[in-house]
Amino acid sequence: MKSTNKKIGILTGGGDVPPLNAVLWSVCETAESGGLNVTGFRYGWDGLFMENGTVELTSEMIDETRGGTFLKSSRVNIRKKENGIERVLERLEELKIGALIVIGGEDTLSNALLLDGIPQILISKTIDNDVGRIENQDTSAYDIINYFTLGFPTALRKIKSFVSVEEGVRTTAYSHERIIVVESMGMHTGWLALASCLGEPDFIIIPEFPLQYERFLSSVIDRYSERKNLVVTVAEGARWEDGSYISGDDSEKDEFDHPRFMGSAQTLCSRLKEDLTQHLDTRNVNFVNPSYLYRSGAPCDLDLMWGKELGRKAVEVINDGLNETVLLSIQRENGDFCLESFHLNNINKIDDIHRFVTESFYNSSTFSATDLAEDYFRLFV
Ligand code: F6P
Repeated sequence: MKSTNKKIGILTGGGDVPPLNAVLWSVCETAESGGLNVTGFRYGWDGLFMENGTVELTSEMIDETRGGTFLKSSRVNIRKKENGIERVLERLEELKIGALIVIGGEDTLSNALLLDGIPQILISKTIDNDVGRIENQDTSAYDIINYFTLGFPTALRKIKSFVSVEEGVRTTAYSHERIIVVESMGMHTGWLALASCLGEPDFIIIPEFPLQYERFLSSVIDRYSERKNLVVTVAEGARWEDGSYISGDDSEKDEFDHPRFMGSAQTLCSRLKEDLTQHLDTRNVNFVNPSYLYRSGAPCDLDLMWGKELGRKAVEVINDGLNETVLLSIQRENGDFCLESFHLNNINKIDDIHRFVTESFYNSSTFSATDLAEDYFRLFV
């Protein structure tokens, strides 16, 4: 920041993830030791439009090990507010905010890219792990811009446990000879659903690869006749072959026109019940949707540690004289994670660095993760 009497602003937006308080705490702690003040905006971008939308943050206020976000969250599209962009810039000026730290997923970060004239640090958090594209899709090597998004490691451990024989539904599927469909969050991308491979489900269905249902059904019949129990993971945004959502009703939309899903596991379960009458008692085809449990509770060690590192690094980059908007990305070098500022000069919207699951990571003929995907996911357990 150019002038020392300016403050750092910070906000958290979109679906929460467990390590948000770790970032907030670490930003405050690092700022305090450098004599800087931190202003928190409450309820994400909404805090810039509200009368009591700010709080002077100190590290003492925040328990860094607790999930959720002390600042609270919302999904706000500033383009949908009257003169939204101008009002945000005026408010930042009025509060003497010299740099803004924005912690969010695709939508929250997209708001940040609309603002010229305020240096910003963007920190990507989402259990969907979909910010930061893959540059090289070669099967033996791949370069990822932003290796993982904050919150994904905790959610990955949860989905692994929900399906596994050690902690999840596999044991009850076995005892009752059931087919259990487990729903994963993931609106556009299947990273979280695919990560369930670590808990060894039989089949995984993700949005990037529309489901060839007849082929899937015959794989289900074959596998069930062999092992007499099945676990299937399906992402909430998974699609039928014609492109429509498995979850059926997508009529309710949020501020960014994303559908609010009604349940892909439930719909897939109903369809399987109809088509499996000759193979098993269809009362034994069931589903579970852990839903918000994926992003609830305390952060795992990896999320806690990188949440704190991101917070510390954000303040350091600001202190070094930040004068543009950068994504603080998590990279991997010589077997370790590290942080780098990724310049967003040619990027106009976060969509441009949206990361989708590719064929290198998903085998659509067996509905399963590739070895490359398993190696990638194992980095987080
Ligand atoms: O932010 C990501 C996410 O967890 C998605 O996977 C999911 O579709 C969405 O949030 C649901 O969030 P909410 O119900 O809070 O809008």
